[in-house]
Amino acid sequence: MKTVPRLAVLGSGKGSNFVALQQAILAGKFDAAIVLVVSDLIGAGILAHAQGFGLPTATLSPSPFRTKLSPEGEASLVDLLHEYAADWVILAGYMRVVKAPLLDAFPNRIINIHPSLLPAFKGLRAWEQALAAGAAETGCTVHFVNREVDGGEIIAQQRVPILPGDTPESLHARIQMAEHELYPAALAKVLARSPSPP
Ligand code: GRF
Repeated sequence: MKTVPRLAVLGSGKGSNFVALQQAILAGKFDAAIVLVVSDLIGAGILAHAQGFGLPTATLSPSPFRTKLSPEGEASLVDLLHEYAADWVILAGYMRVVKAPLLDAFPNRIINIHPSLLPAFKGLRAWEQALAAGAAETGCTVHFVNREVDGGEIIAQQRVPILPGDTPESLHARIQMAEHELYPAALAKVLARSPSPP
């Protein structure tokens, strides 16, 4: 049987990027299998989407911190990812900063999508930052995850215009349409270059 890269997807939100990735895999756009979908939030839309595709899901235990897992919580997450023999960790709207236990367990194997043209507008609600700055365009970036938040090596970017009359909602929706094209294309590129763990 053909071995394909095994992806674990982590998300905290509605899961539209996860859906775009799973649909791209099912359409044969790149060779991979999503083997587990994990959320830090009970009831997150991403979990319902994953169940709809018949994929295994897990919810993390509550963390004492808002923006990160405890070291023990993150170590348990690593154990879970190993249990499912995940090769890659794909962040899709995961709202916690990734710390040492996970970074060390998956060196250069954690990928994120961010709703701006990094290095511009790092951090939360990047589309609102772009609007507030009066930028003419923004976009989305797929990048490797390292110790610097939104600072890892860039894999691919897609530009998105900011139109007169844009609201945060209209701009975010346009960025998300770009994300749903960019993320599968960027993963296809990375996996073709480096299909299995060293
Ligand atoms: C996306 O806009 C992504 O760039 C950001 O979080 C959002 C997740 O959206 N990191 P969804 O849950 O994939 O719909």
